[in-house]
Amino acid sequence: MNEPREEPARAPHENAETSHFGFRTVPLADKQGMVDSVFHSVANRYDLMNDLMSGGLHRAWKAALVTAVNPPRANRFSLLDLAGGTGDVAFRVLAAGGAATRATVVDINPDMLEVGRERAAARSLAGVAFVEGNAEALPFPDRSFDAVTVAFGIRNVPRIEVALAETRRVLAIGGHFLCLEFSTVDVPGLDALYDFYSFNIIPALGRFVAGDAEAYRYLVESIRRFPPPERFAGMMREAGFARVSFRPLTGGIVALHSGWRL
Ligand SMILES: C[S@@+](CC[C@H](N)C(=O)[O-])C[C@H]1O[C@@H](n2cnc3c(N)ncnc32)[C@H](O)[C@@H]1O
Repeated sequence: MNEPREEPARAPHENAETSHFGFRTVPLADKQGMVDSVFHSVANRYDLMNDLMSGGLHRAWKAALVTAVNPPRANRFSLLDLAGGTGDVAFRVLAAGGAATRATVVDINPDMLEVGRERAAARSLAGVAFVEGNAEALPFPDRSFDAVTVAFGIRNVPRIEVALAETRRVLAIGGHFLCLEFSTVDVPGLDALYDFYSFNIIPALGRFVAGDAEAYRYLVESIRRFPPPERFAGMMREAGFARVSFRPLTGGIVALHSGWRL
């Protein structure tokens, strides 16, 4: 386990205008463009790579997210899936909800959204809209949605605290925020195995399947730079969420965070 573990979100020598791109410290203003190139490069292979990299586990993690969203079968329900990419979470919430469930996928990357639109068309799915937008400045009025989800997206956003404040702003009073994100593996043995897999197998898979090892190296590194779950829960509280909690899944590979706008 030679790779760096979790470090402070901002090291002492960094000033307020820097951020991380994987393990690199980069100007805050540059980060979003670098993230956008990653998802531009992998958009067409993104869903296949998710299955390959996680051995299908991302489906179980997303199922846990949808269970927590618990969309009503009978009433109107509006979901915002933030950084929703190719629509995976939105499709699952629509399938779980009733006829009056609506989902909006917002993502900054038009290539990911285009794949999502094609997938929705192939399934003849109504009730889902794809909107280009930045999590740091959401293009929706206050209190627009009953629930906001974000799966594996928040760590890519340069100013997470701004995105959390925006998320709370667009949630209705009584609305639920659920965030699925990679977390901190703390099961002895599993941590070493997970590191080996992450830093060796995933970039190799990225090279052979998506033609881009670097993009997948970024994804792995960005997971390691994301705050541990207790600290992310603190960020959610600071953004004003109530009844904040989290639940580790699969030995802490992933955590499901929950908070409410009360
Ligand atoms: C790892 S993908 C997750 C996609 C989807 N949620 C899923 O679970 O399959 C991360 C997504 O975050 C999006 N993203 C990155 N920065 C963003 C931002 N500032 N605002 C909105 N979306 C952003 C990327 O374009 C990408 O589609």
